[in-house]
Amino acid sequence: MTVIRGATTIKEDTPEEIRAAVKELLGEIIDRNTIKKDEVMSIVLSSTSDIHSYYPAKAARETGFESCALFSAQEPDIVGGLALCIRVMIFVEKNISVRHVYLHGAQNLRKDITKVYSVAIDGPAGSGKSTIARILAKDRKILYLDTGAMYRACALKALQSNVDAADEAAVCDLLKTIELTVRHENGEQHTVLDGKDVSEEIRRPEVSMAASTISTHAYVRMKMVEKQQEIASKTSCVLDGRDIGTVVLPNADFKFFLTARPEVRARRRYDELKAKGYEVDLAALEKELALRDQQDSTRDVSPLKRAPDAVLVDTSDMTVDEVVAHIRSKIQEKI
Ligand code: DC
Repeated sequence: MTVIRGATTIKEDTPEEIRAAVKELLGEIIDRNTIKKDEVMSIVLSSTSDIHSYYPAKAARETGFESCALFSAQEPDIVGGLALCIRVMIFVEKNISVRHVYLHGAQNLRKDITKVYSVAIDGPAGSGKSTIARILAKDRKILYLDTGAMYRACALKALQSNVDAADEAAVCDLLKTIELTVRHENGEQHTVLDGKDVSEEIRRPEVSMAASTISTHAYVRMKMVEKQQEIASKTSCVLDGRDIGTVVLPNADFKFFLTARPEVRARRRYDELKAKGYEVDLAALEKELALRDQQDSTRDVSPLKRAPDAVLVDTSDMTVDEVVAHIRSKIQEKI
């Protein structure tokens, strides 16, 4: 079982404000924890003694929590306590990694968990970005956003539609009809293209080069960057990609640029693909990686480059644990 906490404040004690506040708070808790309404067993709500005009539990019932047990109580009048505050505690049957939600004035209650911060990890393919970003996000209990997966999904759409990834006009037309979303379940990103989970399919070797090509177009980048910025503005996360520290989040709280010698990166990709059962040729992979590096770092729009304030980490001769420890210590130094 999991217990999720949340709180919010209202400006005035009116039924409309209470209904809107409860709806917003419960909606955010459901979204940020990727749970469904019918997975909620019980919600306990409390409100400060300056709230009289409506039952928060009734408001919760009205937002669609029909089958769970609901209870609301009034808190004692504490001098210096936060005014007009509604608190909730949600009990969920399954075990998930919890994201508590504090909104509006209630953010002051838990500054430790409400400050939204971001970690940008950029670097070429095979530098270890995604492995490190995933571990780091799990470690800090924040979201991991794999931005490469989004370009890969666009590339997959082009491949499926027989559209040449290099043909900018055709790609732009195609992307107007694309339905691309990312959702997170137990820390794992699921990339959903036109309603289908394509998280595995986008790892196919032929998608990699097409993703690099499609990502050179300004319109594609604009659309993807918009989505990435929206996600990062709402919740703390680790993002990995090529332009995170330079374009997507130039004000990221922490920036890293990972690199490794080309032969090491090719070997890592080779091992990764082999483990997934793909027939790959190391020499061909080295060539493809060099081509992708060249294309990603010389394109006109947001090329792969190290932000001046990003910490450079050459992972060639480091283990995953060593890289994670190094990055952790750099974050700790700055916190
Ligand atoms: O990280 P990856 O190998 O999954 O990325 C696939 C391609 O997508 C990569 O070659 C370049 C592009 N990409 C990008 O241009 N910007 C990003 N932020 C992430 C990926």
